[in-house]
Amino acid sequence: MNSTQNDKLVYVDEWNVSSQYFYKNEYYSWMADNLTGHKKVLEIGCGTGYSTLALLEKGYDVIAIEKNEECIRKAEHLVSENGDFDSKVVFLQGDVAEETFRNDLLEQYEFDVVICWNIGSYWNREMMTYYLPHMIEYGLDVQQIRVNPESSYAELIVWYACKLAKEKNVSVNIVDRCGEQLNEHNDPYYKCLKDEFSFAKIEYKNKEGKSLSKGGRVLTTNGQASFESVMDIVFVSILLDS
Ligand SMILES: C[S@@+](CC[C@H](N)C(=O)[O-])C[C@H]1O[C@@H](n2cnc3c(N)ncnc32)[C@H](O)[C@@H]1O
Repeated sequence: MNSTQNDKLVYVDEWNVSSQYFYKNEYYSWMADNLTGHKKVLEIGCGTGYSTLALLEKGYDVIAIEKNEECIRKAEHLVSENGDFDSKVVFLQGDVAEETFRNDLLEQYEFDVVICWNIGSYWNREMMTYYLPHMIEYGLDVQQIRVNPESSYAELIVWYACKLAKEKNVSVNIVDRCGEQLNEHNDPYYKCLKDEFSFAKIEYKNKEGKSLSKGGRVLTTNGQASFESVMDIVFVSILLDS
């Protein structure tokens, strides 16, 4: 097994523990409720499927995309074991950073909201080599990427989510895990996305919660990994309406 394959497998196991915790604590249920008024969701990065399952249980149709084949296998299994959702969900393996994949999505699928919840990935040298040109092109500088590659990468993927939504003229919902509540007065970032993509409206919702770190997928804030087992976090849902 090569090191990337190993990183993918480790990621699946760790994220699955964190994600199951979110599901049991009904954080995904809260996220799904924030999409009221929408029907068909394009989910960017479905992970091991607990978020997808929560959306399906709330009655949404879901097109779930995921680049890690180990994650998507687990997600398909989880959903099939927990209900009869065959006609409500499509799983697609692909990378939203690839233009041909995004164009295929736009041409072949209908959706009325794009979501990008808790985006992240395993991180290694191969990831850096592949995504660095994308991050530079997007506008990040090398120093910023070097100090905090994972959040630089997350920023890039959120930007692609907004781009997809705008090209389809639909809304986008991002869920970020923060250390404090976010609103229009202390948000330097999502407001810029609203302006850059000319979304009509931005809406913030905050929910205080907990996340597993050690024992699940280790949380990294400002480049610092946390080795506490459970951490207080704030889930911030940002809805940008087209
Ligand atoms: C931290 S998990 C979150 C999963 C799910 N959204 C949730 O909230 O439980 C992020 C997922 O996004 C996937 N991902 C990261 N970058 C991606 C990309 N460029 N294209 C598609 N999926 C991606 C990762 O493989 C990972 O499984």
